[in-house]
Amino acid sequence: MNIPIEKCYGQGYDGGKNVQGEKIDFMNIPETLRFATATAAFQVEGAWNESDKGESVWDDFVHSKPERIVDGSTADEACDSYHLYKRDVEMLVELGVDYYRFSIAWTRLLPTGFPNKISVDGANYYNNLINELIKNNIKPIVTINHWDIPNVFQKIGGWTNVLLVDYFGDYARVVFELFGDRVKEWVTFNEPQIMCLFGYGEQVGIHGLAPDMQFNGIGEYLCLHNVLKAHAKAYHLYNDTFKPTQKGKLGTATYTSWGEPETDSVDDKENAEKFMHFMTGWYSHPIYSKDGDYPPIMRKIINKRSEIQGFKMSRLPAFTTEEIKYIKGTFDYMGINYYTGGVADTSRFNQTKVPSFENDMGFTSRQKVEWEKLIITWIRIYPEGFRKVINWMVKQYGNHEIYILENGFASERGINDDRRIKCYTNYLKSLLEAISDGCNVTLYTAWSLMDNFEWRSGYLNRMGLFEVDFNSPNKTRVPRKSASFYKELIKSRKLKINL
Ligand code: NOJ
Repeated sequence: MNIPIEKCYGQGYDGGKNVQGEKIDFMNIPETLRFATATAAFQVEGAWNESDKGESVWDDFVHSKPERIVDGSTADEACDSYHLYKRDVEMLVELGVDYYRFSIAWTRLLPTGFPNKISVDGANYYNNLINELIKNNIKPIVTINHWDIPNVFQKIGGWTNVLLVDYFGDYARVVFELFGDRVKEWVTFNEPQIMCLFGYGEQVGIHGLAPDMQFNGIGEYLCLHNVLKAHAKAYHLYNDTFKPTQKGKLGTATYTSWGEPETDSVDDKENAEKFMHFMTGWYSHPIYSKDGDYPPIMRKIINKRSEIQGFKMSRLPAFTTEEIKYIKGTFDYMGINYYTGGVADTSRFNQTKVPSFENDMGFTSRQKVEWEKLIITWIRIYPEGFRKVINWMVKQYGNHEIYILENGFASERGINDDRRIKCYTNYLKSLLEAISDGCNVTLYTAWSLMDNFEWRSGYLNRMGLFEVDFNSPNKTRVPRKSASFYKELIKSRKLKINL
């Protein structure tokens, strides 16, 4: 991993001086790398019950358990993008991005959760947004589901119920039929590991994502199992029925976090690798690896522990041979979300027999205190981990085309966000180094276009290139300094690195 910086610059190394005459170093950005920014429906749309929109698990969660949201807020209005989408597109034009990643709210399009009713207003909203983007030369990247499934499905256990695989397939079909003529980039799911861990299981007491099931050590595995099948279902549907004419690409957004060994000891290195397989491989291995199925280390540990605990079958559900084949290879690119890293903390973790993801992994993950963080957030900055994660994915699963579907930083309010600029600079440097290493990364997505409802952190954590005034009637959006930085980067195709 110790590649000299000159090599990272590759042919692109350049240099120059700023107006003060100080030397500035640049890294040139390869022509093949395109730029995007992103949001998700629940976090920005608002209009939670407008027209015939149905209730999602997140609508229910913020209304029924307000104490779980740090500032007690809801996303009922959020950024009001449902009404202000034209302003959103103006901002994207200002930035000069090639792509905009957004998600479709399942219950806005299908109010009952089923295709027995397609909302005319819902379909109009997404058609208008897509058309506005295309008119302005911005290509849509559409996430089919970003955590907000119909609340009605909780009556049957949400993602723990295999029926949702077909329900998702039916929904995806409507989405492809309605929008596939113009949308050429699809993301089936967003970070299912996080949705399943925090929504269906519990990690050392920090639960709190909808639907807040807390079915520890079982629920999270069932959830991800069905999400994997649903992802594969959508892939095959698209591949067989729509791709021949629509000619788009479909993949999924994997949560990644770099597992950093605490020391050079063999144990620490093994734990770091185990962390990668549990957090990233859990969702990635069945889709990207040559053999398919869950990472062998997960299978071995969880089968064994389940047996000792007296379960008749493993808490990590088994796939049939056909299912393994059905899920394997269901991608046109590898989608990665990266924010931070973690070290295995065995010292403060008392592994018990109680079924839980962490007990199975054998440790809890801790972020190093020397990794910078600005406010109360789950994100401590570890830019070097970005290059390492990308290389790990390539080493594990092959040198496939990679889309970075999220990367960003939480800060406080205000538009003078120099630290965000520094942070983006360091992340992007790490990304360009990964490209120099030979990794085929063709898309970078900054999270987020604007401040929005940051799940259980409410509006406390600000992650936008644009600041949003949530108290103003029209949710005024103002560009932060980082918006100018991103715009300049995209225009000049150079990354200044002596900040
Ligand atoms: C990942 C999630 O996909 C997104 O919704 C969230 O806002 C960011 N992480 C930041 O926490």
